[in-house]
Amino acid sequence: MSFTADRLLLFGATGDLAQRMLLPSLCALDADGLLDPKLEIVGTARSELDDAGYRQFARAALEKFLPPERRGGIAVFLNRLRYQTLDANDMSGFGAVAKKVGTPERGLAIFLSTAPSLFEATIAGLAASGLAGPNVRIGLEKPLGTDLESSRHINDAVAQAFSEDRIFRIDHYLGKETVQNLLALRFANVMFEPLWNAAHIDHVQITVAETVGLEGRVSFYDGAGALRDMVQNHMLQLLALVAMEPPVSYEATAVRDEKVKVLRSLRLVAPDETVTGQYTAGAVGGQAVPGYADELGQSSDTETFVAIKAHLDNWRWKGVPFYLRTGKRLPRRTTEIMIQFRRVPHSIFAGKGAQSQPNRLVIGIQPEENITLSLMVKVPGLDRDGLRLRQVPLNIALPDVFAGPQRRIAYERLLLDLIEGDQTLFVRRDEVEAQWDWIDGIRASWAVHGVTPQPYGAGNWGPTSAIALAARDGVNWHE
Ligand code: BG6
Repeated sequence: MSFTADRLLLFGATGDLAQRMLLPSLCALDADGLLDPKLEIVGTARSELDDAGYRQFARAALEKFLPPERRGGIAVFLNRLRYQTLDANDMSGFGAVAKKVGTPERGLAIFLSTAPSLFEATIAGLAASGLAGPNVRIGLEKPLGTDLESSRHINDAVAQAFSEDRIFRIDHYLGKETVQNLLALRFANVMFEPLWNAAHIDHVQITVAETVGLEGRVSFYDGAGALRDMVQNHMLQLLALVAMEPPVSYEATAVRDEKVKVLRSLRLVAPDETVTGQYTAGAVGGQAVPGYADELGQSSDTETFVAIKAHLDNWRWKGVPFYLRTGKRLPRRTTEIMIQFRRVPHSIFAGKGAQSQPNRLVIGIQPEENITLSLMVKVPGLDRDGLRLRQVPLNIALPDVFAGPQRRIAYERLLLDLIEGDQTLFVRRDEVEAQWDWIDGIRASWAVHGVTPQPYGAGNWGPTSAIALAARDGVNWHE
């Protein structure tokens, strides 16, 4: 359905995501002239506010979360905002929301970032108040369920009111510039594709390391854990982009068709192929930090770290392990993908005493945005004591290459795509369900084997057994 929405309805308009990401993204887009002049934004949440009160609330959030150089457009942006108080559990309130939204000329985009427990009631309210018609599309923020069954339940409820081409499931990692760049690297260059398979790649590592801890998200995080909070969505999307076959075009259906094939080829993980951990007190970046249980105020079996040796049962990746790891309170914040190539089949230099290392491609997603390809070169000299080779990096720092273009945060891209109706960077139902299916298998195996997280001191790369998980295959985690 192709239309640029001229109304945006935000559920959870006073929440943390709205303050930190959604309002700042919209304001920045507006300041750069990227929002339709007619776009009106209606916020809704439980707080008792009127339009003026919400504008005041939004101003405070924008002044806090927008960098100073991007605050210029705040006053103009605030004029777009209106507000309607709503308790989503009370169906009678949706009429007032519909009235506030009015009759869009072209269409309405809805962004739902509320507690999952409110999803169904919200969808029902939207449908009953005429806010789910063919000119309405809906963006859904995670978490979309806690397992396959609950995710299906939510998807069924949304499907009652919205067709799949109007449902935009958000995984904010897909909005990151460097994540999209993965596709450019793979499919806009000729030299990677012939090598991008089990014949030439030994293994792949994906690391999403965070230095933050619980961040006050007690009730949500303790019920989720690292596997469901990070692996089920962000890491599996990264894995799918690394592993997918070349799509026929950069269009939503083509890209998502290829991703879902990868997700469906994930093999059930064996019990000894996962490691879980929970941080204890330690130090991160020179700062002493409490342990997870202390932050939580009670002991818990929730994992704040997980490492997995994953396998894809398909032709391209047969026998190539994908080592995944993510955790909170790790030594530094980094998201990166490392492709470890195989050794050259025969070293002609061995007889000269030279050692050759296999090539490696490291794609830095954040905070460093760089692409590093390690190559072997000859150390200069007359080689009278033998020939020496050294591994040197071919390094592209994207911020240096693109010093001009503005760096945009993920939600700027995703909100614009939602408003304009491009689903390429959103997750389709079959993808989410394939993701949950694999995650449920891991959780079931943990339950059967009584797996509980092993302690690791904050500021370390997870429990020592995570190192062993890779080391027993002769692999070192890339750090
Ligand atoms: C969210 C998780 O989806 O992603 C958080 O719920 C996590 O726990 C966050 O901190 C990480 O996002 P980013 O963009 O900072 O890597």
